[in-house]
Amino acid sequence: MRYSLNTQTVLALETSCDESAVALLKREQGKLHLLANRISSQVHEHARWGGVVPEIASRRHLEDLPFLVEKALCDSFLDFSDIDVVASTVAPGLAGALMVGSITGRTLAALHGLPFIGIHHLEGHLASVMFSEEPPKPPYLVLLVSGGHTELISVVNYGIYKRLGTSHDDAAGEAFDKVARLLGLSYPGGPSIQKIAKAGNAKRFLLPKGRVSKPGGGFYPYDFSFSGLKTAMLRKVESIKNNGDDLPVEDLAASFQEVVAEVLVDRSLSCARDNELSDLVMVGGVAANQRLREMMMERSKEHKIQVHLAPKAFCTDNAAMIGAAALIRLESDWISSSLEMGVSPRWPLEQASKFYQVDPPF
Ligand code: KG4
Ligand code: ZN
Repeated sequence: MRYSLNTQTVLALETSCDESAVALLKREQGKLHLLANRISSQVHEHARWGGVVPEIASRRHLEDLPFLVEKALCDSFLDFSDIDVVASTVAPGLAGALMVGSITGRTLAALHGLPFIGIHHLEGHLASVMFSEEPPKPPYLVLLVSGGHTELISVVNYGIYKRLGTSHDDAAGEAFDKVARLLGLSYPGGPSIQKIAKAGNAKRFLLPKGRVSKPGGGFYPYDFSFSGLKTAMLRKVESIKNNGDDLPVEDLAASFQEVVAEVLVDRSLSCARDNELSDLVMVGGVAANQRLREMMMERSKEHKIQVHLAPKAFCTDNAAMIGAAALIRLESDWISSSLEMGVSPRWPLEQASKFYQVDPPF
């Protein structure tokens, strides 16, 4: 085991959902270098079922991961003697899928006498901003929008998080996926809606912005709800069909995308402003959405908030972000996880530091 705080090379694995991914990253004098980044997407296999099938996901990870590790090593001209640490996503996600990446990571670590680091998938998404042109320094606000999460998180310092907003029902990506299915578009819904919305009129349909009421009156200012919007889309589609008219899929997709982007942008900017955070980061699969990116950049100027966007290729699931999260953790402390640590389908981001206790939390 080599202990060098100046230069570290990590082999990172990601298998929490439907992308099998392997990356190699090096941190040298405070700078991250991506040496290899391999992704094998399973979306086409899941598309025929309209969503992710956990059993298929696990099987595919198992088949693909060894080849991806080999290819990543070839791409980077490295072998295991150059690697300092192995990192795998251990929570949250599909249990069987997580297990494949975690067992592969722990086995490789044990075989080569390397430390193992379990990474929280959302901490990985947060770290994807390290691949942006100008990564911010904490404190900053993050809008994390993926298939499973819609959260506003204050990064007080690396590894120290405070959740300021969340969705009370569907995540934004989930809403994209469900509405796409309603409109007869393919899975994953986000890219399908974005593509067809280009030809649509975003102002044609007025849709609800989904406020979350407080028990004593008023609204939670930074929380989200997408179920009302989903129902409104369903009603529109039903009434158009009942009238015997053709479905204006382009206009419906564009109006839906516009209202989701408005809600995400407005609430994120007011959260940043109210909490005196002048840097705002946007990460996760939905952050790849072009209309959302444009609107966020445009409106942030009025509020004098600097927006940092992860490059689109690093918004959807990948292993480079998992490696970046591991290197950030290692920069402040030489941590590692127990080889006996398993996986957890649900685990709060705020408690990710427990992955580095002597007694593993799961
Ligand atoms: O981060 P991610 O790859 O996986 C999770 O951790 O969930 O996010 C996947 C989600 C899916 O719901 C997908 O429809 C959405 O991100 N997504 C998009 C776009 N690309 C992916 N949503 C809107 N616009 C996009 N261009
Ligand atoms: Zn993800």
